[in-house]
Amino acid sequence: MAATPTRRRRFTFDRQARSFDRRAGLPPGVAQRVAAAVVELLAAARPRGAAGGGLLLELGAGTGEIGAELALRAPRYVGFDLSPAMLARFRRRRGRPRSAWLVAADGDATWPFRDRTARLIFASRAAHLLAPEPLVGEILRLADDAGALLVAGRVRRAPISLRDELRRELRRRLAARGVEARRGGASLRRLRDALVAHGGEPLPPRVVAAWEVVERPDDALAAWRAKDGLAGVALEPELRRAVLDELAAWARTRYGALAYQRTSEERYELAAIRLPARREDRR
Ligand SMILES: C[S@@+](CC[C@H](N)C(=O)[O-])C[C@H]1O[C@@H](n2cnc3c(N)ncnc32)[C@H](O)[C@@H]1O
Repeated sequence: MAATPTRRRRFTFDRQARSFDRRAGLPPGVAQRVAAAVVELLAAARPRGAAGGGLLLELGAGTGEIGAELALRAPRYVGFDLSPAMLARFRRRRGRPRSAWLVAADGDATWPFRDRTARLIFASRAAHLLAPEPLVGEILRLADDAGALLVAGRVRRAPISLRDELRRELRRRLAARGVEARRGGASLRRLRDALVAHGGEPLPPRVVAAWEVVERPDDALAAWRAKDGLAGVALEPELRRAVLDELAAWARTRYGALAYQRTSEERYELAAIRLPARREDRR
């Protein structure tokens, strides 16, 4: 009998912390460009007459590839993450400024901050992993009274991306076993719609960097084998192995070899939502 998925088990990045930068790190120079663009947005979000030094709060800061660059550029930076192992990598990052304040905390629960002074809340490749409803509540609770920005960063792939083709096949195979994959785009849309319902105003998305990648099925499969879950869902190891073995067989037939190569484009995109100033009666 097929093993059943474990939905209660928390999906954690602890096990992939060591390999994360190697597997999912950004090309040279991209983190710096992303950080510079986010800090530009932070400066632009400063309300007229307000003092400088608005807080930049990063959700799912991970190993700090971008966070360390943000902390170098922003007047006040706080990063938090569910995974202590990812944060340990952040703390060890060379060149990390001492002013980077890092907290291990679950973004799906009440965030461990009280001040309503976040002028910009940033999440890179992380917001889609959280339940949108509590996330909206916490963003609105901590946003600066004078207004704030939520900025979500993501890597987008060209439609012909080999990894996306494999991911679609993976989702199909998970669905056949009753496992519903988490859809990053849909979660981000729900988050955006909920914030718009609270008066948020989406700004046009901005591509900060674009680069070419050479993709191979065996690289994608190796990266997925190193994870605790698949498609954003925690799975029992036997089920994960079985699905990936099937996917490898499918890819061998589809592409002729697991070492098949395809070049495609990836880009890092920022999508921001301006959150309105809090009205007196809502304070
Ligand atoms: C794909 S990684 C992105 C890391 C980093 N932001 C980047 O772009 O390199 C997602 C991060 O979100 C964190 N995360 C996932 N669920 C979380 C939650 N409920 N609360 C806080 N962080 C969470 C993970 O631990 C991981 O570090």
